[in-house]
Amino acid sequence: MTRKILVTGGAGYIGSHTCVELLNSGYEVVVVDNLYNASEKSLQIVQEITGKNLTFYKADIRDASKMDEIFKKEKNIFGVIHFAGLKAVGESCQIPLTYYDNNVAGTVTLCEVMAKNNCKNIIFSSSATVYGDPHKVPIKEDFPLSATNPYGRTKLMLEEILKDVYTSDNNWNVVLLRYFNPIGAHESGDLGEDPNGIPNNLVPYILQVAVGKLEKVNVFGSDYDTHDGTGVRDYIHVVDLAKGHVSALKKLEPQSGVSVYNLGTGNGYSVLDIVKNMNKAVGRELPFVLAPRRPGDIATCYADSSLAFRELGWRAEFDIERMCVDSWRWQSKHPDGFK
Ligand code: NAD
Ligand code: UFG
Repeated sequence: MTRKILVTGGAGYIGSHTCVELLNSGYEVVVVDNLYNASEKSLQIVQEITGKNLTFYKADIRDASKMDEIFKKEKNIFGVIHFAGLKAVGESCQIPLTYYDNNVAGTVTLCEVMAKNNCKNIIFSSSATVYGDPHKVPIKEDFPLSATNPYGRTKLMLEEILKDVYTSDNNWNVVLLRYFNPIGAHESGDLGEDPNGIPNNLVPYILQVAVGKLEKVNVFGSDYDTHDGTGVRDYIHVVDLAKGHVSALKKLEPQSGVSVYNLGTGNGYSVLDIVKNMNKAVGRELPFVLAPRRPGDIATCYADSSLAFRELGWRAEFDIERMCVDSWRWQSKHPDGFK
């Protein structure tokens, strides 16, 4: 029997790429998204790319009665891949209650509705941000956890909440996936990240410089203890990340309990490494300036993802060059994103 997966936040950046991989792997897909940070167009593209249909509900995960209606109408939802959430670190410091309401209260409501409908399988989007400033790299899943901003605290709280839910009822199966830095886009160039306003993250910012919407890249900090002084991160192709979710579905079997995996490549690249690779993809030198450090940033962050390989058989395949080429294909084909 084909398994039906509910994808919350499925119209968003990582969610839409995951829908492609789920459909290509033969799953039935039901998406719930309130379109706060996405366009329904992404789901149209997902269906064009795969040649398969999905079901979409424009709904908010905090709306318990609507969510209950969806579960009842869809009947046999096997599990939920839960992407829906707000994700801007800076914004979370300005409007923390909105973040706690959307991310924490939203997930609590979602889990209540799931339990009521006897669906107790969930894969949750966590983040490398839960490691705070790691004492060493590569980061393993059992490293100490901490949060330095409200966004990070929502992820940390939700990891704890989902563990408590399992402890209270062992019929739950929970997979916590800690993503490192997703970049890249589907190889068609028709599905990618479409941020609202001026991007906070490095690669979307560089891409807008490349299409002439922004003047130059600001490199936040050039005096870190790294190979060239700029911050080092573990960038991972969004398609690899999406495939990680399909691999994680195998942990949603009875008695699996709570599993936690880092999804990264294990390689660290600096801001200047990314600029260089993007220059190559774009075919010219993009302007940048060295700027002060951004408050709250850490020097270096990259994953040990060997646990995901051992237990899920998953590992990232795409290299940094490919990540930049695919990012640029998307941005150059669609300078205004889905608009
Ligand atoms: P995104 O904003 O593109 O996708 C999130 C989607 O959730 C959007 O389509 C949005 O409209 C929807 N949404 C938000 N609140 C909702 C609600 N209450 N009800 C229904 N839909 C709602 O972000 P993304 O980059 O695809 O991230 C997906 C998840 O992964 C998020 O939980 C994010 O915190 C997490 N994550 C992202 C990154 C990253 O760098 N992109 C890193 C680590 C973790
Ligand atoms: N950077 C710049 N200039 C910019 C933007 C970023 O130099 O305009 C630098 C940052 O200082 C950092 C690196 O580029 O060294 C990456 O920054 P991003 O903002 O792209 O990503 P972060 O590592 O800060 O954070 C991202 C997500 C978080 C998530 C974290 C770990 O935004 O939500 O990855 O998964 F928690």
